[in-house]
Amino acid sequence: MAKDIKRLAVFSSGGDAPGMNAAIRAVVRTATYHDLHIYGIYRGYDGMIKGNIKRLETSDVGNIMHRGGTILKTARSMEFMTKEGRQLAYESLVANDIDACIAIGGNGTFTGAHIFSKEFDIPFIGIPGTIDNDLYGTDYTIGFDTAINTAVDAVDKIRDTADSHNRLFFVEVMGRNSGFIALNTGIGSGASNVMIPETDTTIDDLIKQLKKGAKRQKLFSLVIVAEGNKNGGAQEIADKVKAKFDYYDTKVTIIGHLQRGGSPTCMDRVLASRLGHSAVESLIKGEANKMVGLVNNKVKLTSFKDAISKDKRLQEDLITMAEILAL
Ligand code: F6P
Repeated sequence: MAKDIKRLAVFSSGGDAPGMNAAIRAVVRTATYHDLHIYGIYRGYDGMIKGNIKRLETSDVGNIMHRGGTILKTARSMEFMTKEGRQLAYESLVANDIDACIAIGGNGTFTGAHIFSKEFDIPFIGIPGTIDNDLYGTDYTIGFDTAINTAVDAVDKIRDTADSHNRLFFVEVMGRNSGFIALNTGIGSGASNVMIPETDTTIDDLIKQLKKGAKRQKLFSLVIVAEGNKNGGAQEIADKVKAKFDYYDTKVTIIGHLQRGGSPTCMDRVLASRLGHSAVESLIKGEANKMVGLVNNKVKLTSFKDAISKDKRLQEDLITMAEILAL
């Protein structure tokens, strides 16, 4: 065990994701097992700056495994992006005798941790928690599985009404600049088309594909739109398509923050437990400024630098397969 780590703090930051609580539980219980004192920082980096730090006991993380959101709350901190803000955060960690931190979040969270690690000597380990699944260094991020299951459930329901009315539905899902949620929701719900930022599908391509479907008497169609898609969001695409294509009555549904909440799936709970546990073990072994992830079902560490700057690519074969299966 690295001798100098006695007091460890954990926090969640950025958009919440189902499974963050399971990760917090795993961190607290693993740290306690190793006789470390564990603290919770409330409201992410903002809470770090303000010294909103409280001791956590194992009983504080009982009965939270199944809960969505994060008991430590979260925030997107503008102040931590400034040098002055990070200085205040450092001072508050020192004032609380915190030797190391575990950050649960996504790209923005680890960008902050990466900059902080160059300026100060407190080691950080990151746990990938975001529904977007857009972090290099892990096959899955915590919350992604729950989000796609929520989205598929919503699309299944839309399918019933789309079928009854012979309608063309554009369903917008989250994902920021990546299409992981959209592609997997599209495949899992049997959608006719998926519009994602990673491909160059134009409105004309989409209309051609929809016409093909209409020609073979497809009575309704479901198009999944990633919010970061280059042609615009679901409403914008629907308006453009509607203007040139009158076969179906067109409707738009934006699933929105529904996909960020809810009880985590078992996949997310197990992933969060593994990564939370490994984050503490990694710090104890002297690792610093890296993210724990799961690659080919094995825990792997990736530097913050790589996690935030390298591109996590969508599997090309899944894109092709989705097109073939939707014929
Ligand atoms: O990063 C998670 C995410 O849900 C993205 O998919 C989405 O673009 C964004 O956060 C929404 O952020 P907010 O909740 O701040 O509107």
